[in-house]
Amino acid sequence: MAERIRVLLSEEEVDARIQAIGEQISRDYEGKQVHLICVLKGGSFFMCELAKRISVPVSLDFMSVASYGSDTKSSGVVRIVKDLDESLKDKDVIVVEDIVDSGRTLSYLLEVLRSREPKSLRLCTLLDKPERRVVDVNVDYTGFQIPDEFVVGYGLDYAQKYRNLPYIGVVENV
Ligand code: IMP
Ligand code: MG
Repeated sequence: MAERIRVLLSEEEVDARIQAIGEQISRDYEGKQVHLICVLKGGSFFMCELAKRISVPVSLDFMSVASYGSDTKSSGVVRIVKDLDESLKDKDVIVVEDIVDSGRTLSYLLEVLRSREPKSLRLCTLLDKPERRVVDVNVDYTGFQIPDEFVVGYGLDYAQKYRNLPYIGVVENV
């Protein structure tokens, strides 16, 4: 079956929203340094664009987690595949994610990160699907709330494809 991508959020809309979040974070962290944690691979495009729009000093680190589940549904059991390089102790940390869906991955991850004693810990996500939430997670910065549809682009994949799309789209079978 062939696939077609329907645009949900255009490149211009996404860029403008990331600019606004960058400005908000710059205000909220005035006089501080922010330590951004990218959750690979999905969060990478968003983190790079966001980091460029933050005017306070920024440091970056990366981690990768795998959920024991199918591609489109996470099980809640999460394994750290690549851990952070640096300690979080006394840092003002923001976790940068592509999407919060059931909330299972993030809820586990935030618990792990909190145990490493950062000075503060916040969550920033490009997309949020509130209808799908199973586990409660407190999101501090949200790009867009979207309906319950499987989306790709801006780091998000479908079977590892479409991460490089500069907009957010919905995969349709035609
Ligand atoms: P959660 O644990 O259910 O919140 O799952 C979050 C992870 O599932 C995200 O980091 C994505 O990797 C993946 N995911 C959830 N929804 C989508 C989607 O619509 N498109 C692509 N990946 C998604
Ligand atoms: Mg992710």
